[in-house]
Amino acid sequence: MNPSDVKATLSFSDGSPSMDLPIFKGSVGPDVIDIRKLYGQTGKFTYDPGFLSTASCNSKITYIDGDKGELLYRGYPIEQLAVGCDYLETCYLLLKGELPNVSQKEEFTKLVTNHTMVNEQMQFFLRGFRRDAHPMAIMTGLVGGMSAFYHDSTDINNPEHREIAAIRLIGKMPTLVAMAYKYSVGQPFIYPKNDLSYAGNFMRMMFATPCEEYVPNDVLVRAMDRIFILHADHEQNASTSTVRLCGSSGTNPFAAIAAGVACLWGPAHGGANEAALTMLEDVQKMGGVEKIGEFIKQVKDKNSNVKLMGFGHRVYKNYDPRAKLMRETCHEVLSALGQNNDPILKLAMALEKIALEDEYFVSRKLYPNVDFYSGIVQRAMGIPVSLFTAIFALARTVGWIAQLNEMISDPEYKIGRPRQLFNGAAARTVRPINER
Ligand code: SDX
Repeated sequence: MNPSDVKATLSFSDGSPSMDLPIFKGSVGPDVIDIRKLYGQTGKFTYDPGFLSTASCNSKITYIDGDKGELLYRGYPIEQLAVGCDYLETCYLLLKGELPNVSQKEEFTKLVTNHTMVNEQMQFFLRGFRRDAHPMAIMTGLVGGMSAFYHDSTDINNPEHREIAAIRLIGKMPTLVAMAYKYSVGQPFIYPKNDLSYAGNFMRMMFATPCEEYVPNDVLVRAMDRIFILHADHEQNASTSTVRLCGSSGTNPFAAIAAGVACLWGPAHGGANEAALTMLEDVQKMGGVEKIGEFIKQVKDKNSNVKLMGFGHRVYKNYDPRAKLMRETCHEVLSALGQNNDPILKLAMALEKIALEDEYFVSRKLYPNVDFYSGIVQRAMGIPVSLFTAIFALARTVGWIAQLNEMISDPEYKIGRPRQLFNGAAARTVRPINER
């Protein structure tokens, strides 16, 4: 790490000895104050629930500038990757730190493609779920369940195991998500086909049936691939931090990624795309564009507990660059499908316009995030709302793996074990039950 020549000095008004804390600079972004020796020297903890001012790790993978609305994967702006690369190139970049050349891409694609089938036993595991189970409940089970099938890649401290587990997870997530979907609609599972692209294979496993072939539409395949790219990684968000903390105990990679799936499901995080579309459909039922004013009033009323789903972000205090790209994809897909007049898209655009001009949202720097438009695109593509977050998990798997591997490969890493500010009962004596 790059030490700054500036130090932080901590002094106490009660005359306790002050303490110098080193500061480290990143290649870009905020410096950090190194507090690793704070408790040892002062007997005090820092307090930062929600980690608004805490850097949990030293990473080289993804950088976000929330004020500029900038997102870089290994230094490359998301806008360039979304246009100039495909998802598997982005996976290679996130995992290895550089974009692949032609032969590296061919080899990586072949490796992933040859790991898209899942063990036949997994379908019996899947069949144990209710048909109306939420796909994220199924995915949490299936991904964790992979550690019951792939015993030769469960040792997280073995680089070869990590490599194989990464390829298996990236290769098999589309198959598992498509199986969860087919199971929910009572259709037979469709096996992957090795002559299709990653996104094309996923679309075919989703929509083909044994009765008729499904030829993926290039515009929809490209749109799905872009959705994967936009969701691939995002610094130390809640699910990535969950994967790092879970993996820090040395558990197997499948269990750590399953923890990420479980965390992503929440409506404040990856579940927001499902919640955002449900919100738009509810406003549409209320009366659509004419009723936006009434809905916005509810959002501003703290007692209503209604949030504008798909808006706001812990880091972005400007427009989420992914939302801009997702909105473009929205228009491309809807015009390709002849759905330019989709009332839900019109409603979303009207809602966005009002929110971007309304003092309540402007003062709180609430802009659309990646989840605001992604649901509209997926709905237009025939993806059921309940599957949106599972697709987010599919795409984010490579980011979780890259972040987990970065942590495990850091010789300084330790098991994560935060402390607390305790305000409970001090020590007291248990009295016999007849005296309580
Ligand atoms: C993702 O972290 C990541 O990187 C996540 C992610 C990724 O790729 O991994 O980007 C993916 O999770 C995107 C976020 C998706 N979630 C949503 O769209 C759900 C709606 N958004 C909110 O729940 C909220 O904005 C969060 C959770 C995203 C961020 O919350 P913060 O940073 O804790 O902000 P906050 O709750 O302190 O809000 C600040 C103020 C509050 O009002 P006041 O108390 O100041 O009066 O803004 C208000 C909040 O009530 N506010 C909202 C709002 N989001 C925040 N008011 C209405 N609608 C909203 N969406």
